[in-house]
Amino acid sequence: MIIEPRTRGFICLTAHPKGCEQNVINQIDYIKSKGAIDGPKKVLVIGASTGFGLASRITSAFGANASTIGVYFEKPPSEGRPASPGWYNTAAFETQAHKEGLYAKSINGDAFSNEIKRQTLDLIKEDLGQVDLVIYSLASPVRTHPDTGVKYKSVLKPIGDTFQNKTVDFHTGKVTEVSIAPAEGDDIENTVAVMGGEDWKMWIDALKAEGLLAPDFNTVAYSYIGPSLTEAVYRKGTIGRAKDHLEATAFDITDTLKDVNGKAYVSVNKALVTQASSAIPVIPLYISLLYKVMKEMGIHEGCIEQIQRLFSDRLYADTIATDEQGRIRIDDWEMRDDVQAKVAELWEEATTETLPEIGDLKGYDTDFFNLFGFKVPGVDYDADVNEVVAIPGLQ
Ligand code: NAI
Ligand code: NA
Repeated sequence: MIIEPRTRGFICLTAHPKGCEQNVINQIDYIKSKGAIDGPKKVLVIGASTGFGLASRITSAFGANASTIGVYFEKPPSEGRPASPGWYNTAAFETQAHKEGLYAKSINGDAFSNEIKRQTLDLIKEDLGQVDLVIYSLASPVRTHPDTGVKYKSVLKPIGDTFQNKTVDFHTGKVTEVSIAPAEGDDIENTVAVMGGEDWKMWIDALKAEGLLAPDFNTVAYSYIGPSLTEAVYRKGTIGRAKDHLEATAFDITDTLKDVNGKAYVSVNKALVTQASSAIPVIPLYISLLYKVMKEMGIHEGCIEQIQRLFSDRLYADTIATDEQGRIRIDDWEMRDDVQAKVAELWEEATTETLPEIGDLKGYDTDFFNLFGFKVPGVDYDADVNEVVAIPGLQ
């Protein structure tokens, strides 16, 4: 079949297996080019199929020769209907890992559920014995609580006042004003229930209860801060409350890890185009200006460059540098004063007419389509491809 992109709003309904495979191969090549990391040996990645989680799995396997188990929630392919991109990414990753003799297996299902946790614990017990690193990289709009069955929905809203600012539709390049009404009712609690730290702690508690954490165990979850431009809708909005909760949970988890000399960290990462961030209003305009500035300064990074730096310069360096709140910062280049001053200046000037010049809309668009395996250099999109691809290590 010939697979073409079919977009609806900020999502793409189709994905290209060859393009996804090429993206994964490019990430593997990047990690190999940076040399070996004296890093983790047995790694569980929760949210392993796209974005920062996939980059973490690739860095663990191809940078540190680690065995990896990936948990993710992806749509399998069927005849005439392509899978979701994380399916094809995982198929490519596990194929490449197995080729090099690396252990790589995965579980596709709802990581918030007791069933998927049970399956994962059993697989670790059977195959790895213990894990020395757990990466928690879920991004989800909903969570069904495993104990109560209550289904929570997260929202992206400011708290207190209506938020008004510019935004861009990155498909058309049109810059408009958006107005987002503030959170009401249970919006904050619901968002914290989905994207806060409760599920992260449930995972670590469950692993610990069965003796599956190796000595000197580490776990890392990903957070975001960002500039004052996006603060009202992001860090001081409902999602920010969830990130506050996630960051506080790192300390709660660390308290439970004394006997394995373990530690829980939050890493604050850079704003990047992923399926999760494309859905947040205002962020695409910010990212398109940020990309322009960081590329001009020669300090732009994607997920794989970010996570390579996280492992080599932070987590597995001689000492783990953190900020005063105990967080690892790999958003350090994004947050540099010169970068932010330039972005703030461009923000004032951004209109539908100026944005193609002053912003990196093209880079945004390319990254967006790349997420789904489209517009990837070297891939022949006119060639017939088999959409029914199997994941070799899928349990
Ligand atoms: P993503 O959308 O690329 O990845 C999400 C992953 O979670 C996928 O592997 C998906 O299959 C999995 N997933 C979602 N719901 C699931 C469920 N119920 N059960 C099992 N797996 C499930 O997102 P991205 O951007 O990589 O986000 C990961 C983390 O990084 C999030 O905590 C996000 O807030 C954070 N982050 C993202 C930034 C960005 O700009 N994209 C910046 C800084 C932090
Ligand atoms: Na991820």
